[in-house]
Amino acid sequence: MSARPKFRYYTASTLDGYLADLDDSLDWLLTQPIDENGPMNYTEFIADIGAMVMGWTTYRWLLDNEVSDGKPWPYDMPCFVFTHRDVVPVAESISVVAGSPADHRDLLIAAAGDKDVWIVGGGDLAAQFAEAGMLDEIVVSFAPVTVGAGRPLFPRRFDLELIDTARNRAFVCARYAVVGPRSRISS
Ligand SMILES: NC(=O)c1ccc[n+]([C@@H]2O[C@H](COP(=O)([O-])OP(=O)(O)OC[C@H]3O[C@@H](n4cnc5c(N)ncnc54)[C@H](OP(=O)(O)O)[C@@H]3O)[C@@H](O)[C@H]2O)c1
Repeated sequence: MSARPKFRYYTASTLDGYLADLDDSLDWLLTQPIDENGPMNYTEFIADIGAMVMGWTTYRWLLDNEVSDGKPWPYDMPCFVFTHRDVVPVAESISVVAGSPADHRDLLIAAAGDKDVWIVGGGDLAAQFAEAGMLDEIVVSFAPVTVGAGRPLFPRRFDLELIDTARNRAFVCARYAVVGPRSRISS
């Protein structure tokens, strides 16, 4: 096992490779049966996480769906929101950042302490981390649904190595190591 922190992209996806549909709805996900104690479950994953990273759309989704009606921000750990916007965070644990992930590498490592960094999403931000050499693994739970269009899972060319697979009720769960960028071969 490599030294900590690892940078880990842990997410769920439709079978056709979307994190959310074009309306940023997750209804395709939240209606699926899952065993919360089953393979690759969230509880075990989050126990190893010391800091989290997300893009603006994901942050906004959390504000709209998890922090509405007076509910507090649901995470105690340091959270880094990538955006170009002038945002006033809703919790002291949230930092607003922009630019290349590499610009924030030392900050993220320090924030994670002796744990790992969770790249929450979206997919392009996770791919920016991969391009900066700051993505060790991708763990995806694929739901048995397609939505045709939406927010992509990982919209860059990369080679991955399949490390582990499992079934958790409706989901096919897969763990991949990030190998590196996949060059284009002209035919
Ligand atoms: N299925 C799941 O488990 C799962 C997991 C995570 C997220 N989601 C959902 O998937 C969707 C993801 O949305 P998304 O694809 O738009 O991705 P996102 O990463 O959440 O948001 C993208 C935005 O983040 C900002 N951003 C990204 N990289 C940046 C950088 N290097 N510097 C500064 N700002 C940067 C930009 O916004 P600005 O320039 O406008 O600031 C960009 O348009 C959301 O609906 C989310 O709720 C689902």
